[in-house]
Amino acid sequence: MAQDHARAISGVEITSIAVRPGIDVQINGEHYRHTGDPQMPLLWYLRDVLQLDGTKYSGENGVGGADLVLVDGKSTSAIGVPMSKLVGKPIITVEGLADSKGNLHPLQQAFIDEDAIGCGYCTPGWLIASMDLLNRRKDPSDSDIDTLPNLCRCGCQTRVRSAIKRAAAAMKQGSKA
Ligand code: FES
Repeated sequence: MAQDHARAISGVEITSIAVRPGIDVQINGEHYRHTGDPQMPLLWYLRDVLQLDGTKYSGENGVGGADLVLVDGKSTSAIGVPMSKLVGKPIITVEGLADSKGNLHPLQQAFIDEDAIGCGYCTPGWLIASMDLLNRRKDPSDSDIDTLPNLCRCGCQTRVRSAIKRAAAAMKQGSKA
């Protein structure tokens, strides 16, 4: 309206500038506005824009699960979800598992205690998928764990199973404390 008024007064053509509203997202409790391509996969926003590079590339289809993050509490392939689908949905990456003082989550500690980390490439994805599982099953069985989509080329699967069970026990203990 103000522009129309100004145009009428001055006779000068004013070109309106399209304003890209941006996409507001919440990642690890922090708020960000993405003003780039709405179709950018979340993985590239995390790694290239925010420099949160714990989440790994896991192929174009996310096979192997190294690119998993929690979206609304559910483990989700970060390469498979565009920024446009994330408005208002809380996102947790592996960097968000530790508390604000840097204390590791019991699940992270269990991976260390069970020596369930080889080269570490797959570990962020395992941690995220395991968090999702532990949110649904307080006492996961081997077959529950075997449903996780994660792959490990270093052969850590057996120790990962032990770590998830150790974490489940620690979390139950913690909830009683
Ligand atoms: S620890 Fe190396 S791929 Fe799993």
